[in-house]
Amino acid sequence: MRDLGRSEIKELTDSSLGHIASIEAGSAPGSDLTGSVAALMFFEPSTRTQLSFDLAAQRLGAQVISFNEATSSTAKGETLRDTVLTVAAMADVLVIRHSEEYLPHRVLEWTGRPVINAGDGTNEHPTQALADLVTLTRHFDRLDGLKAAIVGDIRHSRVAGSLVQCLPKVGMSVTLVGPAEMLPGEAAPGVALSSDLDSLLEETDVVYLLRVQAERGARAGDDYVERFQLSDRRAQVMKPGAVVMHPGPMNRGVEIDDDVADGPRSLALKQVANGVPARMAVLEAIAGTSG
Ligand code: NCD
Repeated sequence: MRDLGRSEIKELTDSSLGHIASIEAGSAPGSDLTGSVAALMFFEPSTRTQLSFDLAAQRLGAQVISFNEATSSTAKGETLRDTVLTVAAMADVLVIRHSEEYLPHRVLEWTGRPVINAGDGTNEHPTQALADLVTLTRHFDRLDGLKAAIVGDIRHSRVAGSLVQCLPKVGMSVTLVGPAEMLPGEAAPGVALSSDLDSLLEETDVVYLLRVQAERGARAGDDYVERFQLSDRRAQVMKPGAVVMHPGPMNRGVEIDDDVADGPRSLALKQVANGVPARMAVLEAIAGTSG
């Protein structure tokens, strides 16, 4: 998302919306990765992202091969580069998730194949951000001028890493909210930092919640729930029409209350559904003939 301009983001959003229209009309997917092979290489756990890339590639006519680290030869001492070159020898486009930041760039250098970033460490998760933009575009008449608060473990969140890049490019303002130790030292230009969720709720259009990433060493302090959970009481303070978003997986009872997770403001399952057309748009743009 850092590398994309406003018009490129709009093209990808429009292309995703086109795929939604054809999915809803029940028409056969228009385009065309027919005859090509998409390799999904997930070195970190995934539910939504992997399934939606798999489905997106299939809807475009590609054959999909999936690499699973737990059962692969990396356990036999093969280097990461050799594993990647091996899979790339059978594939036309690579989708990769890994704990190392900027690995997709190295994979591109190693293989010369089109590479899609499905999450690189704590850096970016661009297709999640695109699915979110599609979700917002479908929900609001216009994005320009909307206020977003992204709440939680910002420092470890690649989702936040992509959202802070793209939301300002579509005219939205962003405040990153969390305890000081979960906030970046400094924010990108135009992005605000806060540790006071309550002071923002009444004026925010989008409250975007994030999980505390224990696997990357984060820990919610004893007062985390009290200060940062989007509870039912807090959700009632939000303005009419304001929405709640979450990329999943949710830790219910920590960053979000059950009633809010399943409540009328939540767009979480729409974000999941829109992940498929968003990833179709990206696959087409990167690997397709008609993108
Ligand atoms: C996120 C991820 O893996 O970055 N999940 C996702 O892809 N929807 C967020 C997370 O793990 O908390």
